Amino acid sequence: MVIAIDGPAGTGKSTIARMLAENCKGRDGKPFTYINSGNLYRAITLGCLREGIPPSDPVRVLEYAKRAPLVYREGKLYLGDEMVEDLLHSDEVDAHVSPLSAIVPVRHVVNDHVRKLAAGLNAVVEGRDMTTVVFPNAEYRFYLDASIKERARRRHEQGVSRLGLEEIEAAIAKRDAIDRNKEEGSLTVGDGVSCLDTSDLTLNQVYATLIEKITMEG
Ligand code: DC
Repeated sequence: MVIAIDGPAGTGKSTIARMLAENCKGRDGKPFTYINSGNLYRAITLGCLREGIPPSDPVRVLEYAKRAPLVYREGKLYLGDEMVEDLLHSDEVDAHVSPLSAIVPVRHVVNDHVRKLAAGLNAVVEGRDMTTVVFPNAEYRFYLDASIKERARRRHEQGVSRLGLEEIEAAIAKRDAIDRNKEEGSLTVGDGVSCLDTSDLTLNQVYATLIEKITMEG
């Protein structure tokens, strides 16, 4: 069973997806695995930056993406032997991940990876094209949104960026524009996907809305 969640950065997708994975059981009574597809793009970006591969060079990025040693161990993403989850939200990775994720064949590598990770499992998957391209037939599909001001405020509050609030807002606007205009897998609300604006909602309220839909329709 798959629960797919899409939406732009800063809508609380990751936290909500993790909460659902921790608290739900599939129809077979087994627990859910949480898969963050953005982290795969981020880990490929990190690997390219470390190897001196320009994230805008489609040929070299694809060559790296195909051999990148991306592994999940106990729910954490590793690049080879190194657990990299804490390194994926730096300003440098943030600045390069969006254009890298627009490279179509790189998307195919990541999509294959996500489908393999979820195969045969109950999975909560989140990203930009999980509900539209990767799992269009998922049992539950949600799109979380929020105003750009609120998303910038949330990112600023996380305290992981060296940028000021206005700079964060500008960086998010730039990434949104790229994410919404990709040749493949662009961010959009797919047919039949339940959309929720989280701007004025707490995480618990968002969670309650989604879990109600899942339980009621379950
Ligand atoms: O969800 P995130 O902010 O960690 O994603 C990082 C980048 O990867 C972001 O620019 C969007 C892109 N992405 C994508 O194109 N498709 C996905 N399924 C997930 C993320």
